Amino acid sequence: MIERSGQLEFEGLAGEGQVHTVVMPRVVAEPTTFFGNMHAGETGKEEWLTPPHIIRALGDFDLDPCAPVKRPWETARHHFTVEDDGLAQEWFGRVWMNPPYGSKTEEWMKMLVRLGNGIALIYARTETDIFFPWVWDHADALFFFKRRLRFYNVDGTPAVTKDGKSSQAGAPSVLVAYGRNNVDALLSCGLNGKFVPLRSAA
Ligand SMILES: C[S@@+](CC[C@H](N)C(=O)[O-])C[C@H]1O[C@@H](n2cnc3c(N)ncnc32)[C@H](O)[C@@H]1O
Repeated sequence: MIERSGQLEFEGLAGEGQVHTVVMPRVVAEPTTFFGNMHAGETGKEEWLTPPHIIRALGDFDLDPCAPVKRPWETARHHFTVEDDGLAQEWFGRVWMNPPYGSKTEEWMKMLVRLGNGIALIYARTETDIFFPWVWDHADALFFFKRRLRFYNVDGTPAVTKDGKSSQAGAPSVLVAYGRNNVDALLSCGLNGKFVPLRSAA
């Protein structure tokens, strides 16, 4: 293989003693910090709630540190809302976390990693600067959903587009487990997707 002016040239035998050269453009991997804005799909809404059957499938949670002020159902035994500022509180027990997306997503992921007991629902943006340190380097297992999720409004209705059609998330989603008990929850959740063991789950 020869590198020449930003291109990679591979030489190989084409048969009968002939040599051919395949020229490929060089792909440079750039680090990316982009993670996405909330679970906003086509509606651009910022309070998209987790479909309740997903939380039910994962068992009981002690704390949701980022819950809506007015919510159509409980996501855990205790909730912090924007009025408490979940990032400024002490977290405890088994945490369910579908964090606000945007510039502070990393802060939420750091808090859960520090606690080491919970499940996060985030975009499966596996190449980002958030995914690398807080998921790939610390999580115990992942569960990638088949198909994109459809989120809910705070009044409990499914999110729809402006023209009233069912709206789906702007990217695929993944459940991220920290702690052995949460790995087990992903393994036995029965949801439609693929379980991927990482550290303690291996
Ligand atoms: C993507 S929604 C998820 C809601 C809920 N946890 C669920 O799983 O359905 C993110 C929630 O975080 C709340 N939030 C935003 N900033 C917050 C803060 N500083 N402290 C606590 N909650 C916050 C928003 O009001 C919103 O309800």
